[in-house]
Amino acid sequence: MQTVQTINELKHIISLNKEKTIGFVPTMGYLHEGHLALLNKARVDNDLVVASIFVNPAQFGPNEDLDRYPRDIEKDTQLATDAGVDVLFIPSATEMYPFESGITITVGDLSTKLCGESRPGHFDGVLKVITKLFHLVQPTKAYFGQKDAQQLAIIETFVEAYNFPVQIVRVPTVREADGLAKSSRNVFLSEQERVEAMHLYKALQLATETWEKTSDLAAAIAKGKEHIDSNTSGKIDYLEALSYPALQPVTNETKEVLFATAVFFEKARLIDNILT
Ligand code: PAJ
Repeated sequence: MQTVQTINELKHIISLNKEKTIGFVPTMGYLHEGHLALLNKARVDNDLVVASIFVNPAQFGPNEDLDRYPRDIEKDTQLATDAGVDVLFIPSATEMYPFESGITITVGDLSTKLCGESRPGHFDGVLKVITKLFHLVQPTKAYFGQKDAQQLAIIETFVEAYNFPVQIVRVPTVREADGLAKSSRNVFLSEQERVEAMHLYKALQLATETWEKTSDLAAAIAKGKEHIDSNTSGKIDYLEALSYPALQPVTNETKEVLFATAVFFEKARLIDNILT
């Protein structure tokens, strides 16, 4: 595996691999089995696998966890090597953003819902870094987890609307044995919170089941919320059902429904979802 820190080195490697299919997995590091599922799929599908580790300042709000976001480059390098990654791109913030262009990408309606409400500007920052990374890596396919369903919906829509020459591949959420979605932020949970955190998925399952049985969306949402309130010390940010990927109110015509939740614990805000 080649580890590269500069854009010039990365561009050079990509230029030498023009005739190959390139699978790309962007991450913020502190790799876990969720990231590995993306890397494994990319490895099977492509000639060359490129992964990136960059804790992107542009997608963190002023009071969010940029400074304490967990990092372990040594372990990540080992995991990426074991997963068969060919090129690991680990740029610094000044390498990625050497000057302030004053030109921004604004997501609009898709970022006004769910996580967008409590994280203003977050998805603009995601698209800022993804645009740069796609231009640098020029991937045939790029892999994203369903765990971050709103991010996935926004990236799929962006790529389609602006004709990025890349195929976005959705990878199902990888979970712990008790159902908790794997996340780099799970390390911030106290022992007690870690036990409680499995109830996010349980609540989403209850909501989905209730909706499927009764077609009563309000009752389904209420049931999910009630489950989180009575089984965790967390504070619900939202638990909602929207059409996917348009993130509009559910109607009889809706094909895919996203049940999604975000819950604040003491030191971590966790998200999870079910797509039905
Ligand atoms: P990060 O949180 O590191 O996640 C990188 C990728 O791994 C994302 O596509 C995410 O959806 C996926 N992922 C995380 N946990 C997962 C799980 N339990 N199961 C399946 N996939 C999972 O998402 C980001 O980084 C950033 O916003 C990024 C896209 C890299 C842009 O900075």
